[in-house]
Amino acid sequence: MSERCSSSDKGMFEAIVSSNRQIGQRFYRLILEFSGDGAIAFVNFQPGQFAELDLSGTALPSAEAIPEDLHDAAERKILLRRPFSFTDVTTNRDKTFAELLYCVAGPATLRMTTLSAGDSVSVIGPLGNGFSVPDDKKIALLVTGGMGVPPLLHLAKVLTADLHATMIEVIAFAGAKTETELPFEGRLDEISQQLGFSIPEFAMYGIESLLATDDGSAGYHGFITDCLAERLGQSDLASEDIVIYSCGPEVMLAKVAEIAKDKNIDCQVSMERRMACGIGLCQSCAVECRLNGSNETVYKMCCKDGPVFDSREVIF
Ligand SMILES: Cc1cc2nc3c(=O)[nH]c(=O)nc-3n(C[C@H](O)[C@H](O)[C@H](O)COP(=O)(O)OP(=O)(O)OC[C@H]3O[C@@H](n4cnc5c(N)ncnc54)[C@H](O)[C@@H]3O)c2cc1C
Ligand code: FES
Repeated sequence: MSERCSSSDKGMFEAIVSSNRQIGQRFYRLILEFSGDGAIAFVNFQPGQFAELDLSGTALPSAEAIPEDLHDAAERKILLRRPFSFTDVTTNRDKTFAELLYCVAGPATLRMTTLSAGDSVSVIGPLGNGFSVPDDKKIALLVTGGMGVPPLLHLAKVLTADLHATMIEVIAFAGAKTETELPFEGRLDEISQQLGFSIPEFAMYGIESLLATDDGSAGYHGFITDCLAERLGQSDLASEDIVIYSCGPEVMLAKVAEIAKDKNIDCQVSMERRMACGIGLCQSCAVECRLNGSNETVYKMCCKDGPVFDSREVIF
């Protein structure tokens, strides 16, 4: 397998907002444009890496646009930058464009909704490591839960890019509690769904995708990890030909890691922690890990040593 990617060209850059579009009740797509050194730094941004955005100076939306459950939290001061992955990175001439998919969850993401074309945002990155792209696997299974989608959409693009497309089959599994918590724009028609292409965002890369919701409001009624286990049960591929990538709630990552361990399949998980400095200094994002497969454990920093870890090393 190729080496994990991390960037040594990180820095603080001003990005200009290209667009900021609402795609669901609480979901938005934001496109940031980088030029100069920022364009150079972010052009090699790897799926799984992240950037920290400063939203402290961004205005709140009007009172009526604030969801009821965030009325109290909305006024909180934004002291820290917030971490975000990208769903896509493209270039045009000497500019780099990074696309974010975000969910309105608290004061910072609420402020993000008021960003509009031409606004400037301070961004630190690229930070952390990325998923390592295999050169010896036949199939990659991307398993997401809730807001775990962004880095795996980016990975889907990379895995199906010309270089890898002929070598690896990719299948996406996306789960959420209920249909409204699936961060996708639309649903494909019934024929596409019967063919196994349920999610347009993955279908555009020619990737088969399966949906699951805990309450059965969309796709399979149950956990997405059940779909993964079922699919693996039907596969006659050898374990060493398969790789699993996962991002989402920790309880789901733990289950994915367990399935991978039982079947002896390589698995990379993107861990989420609250972050402060984002560069390994403040120790606020610790992830307990096994030391070289032994029973001894060490704390690694999610922002610097991760956020992507081999699932075998994480203590869930
Ligand atoms: C590496 C990384 C990549 C991320 N990528 C994305 C992305 O692409 N899109 C996106 O919408 N969000 C992403 N997030 C989460 C995002 O950073 C938080 O939703 C954001 O910081 C919330 O800020 P807020 O002020 O709006 O809400 P807050 O009030 O700060 O948080 C709202 C709620 O979310 C919980 N929460 C916030 N951050 C985290 C965290 N890191 N881990 C666990 N729980 C948390 C809080 O406990 C609280 O309940 C990512 C997080 C990490 C660590
Ligand atoms: S956020 Fe400071 S060490 Fe990770």
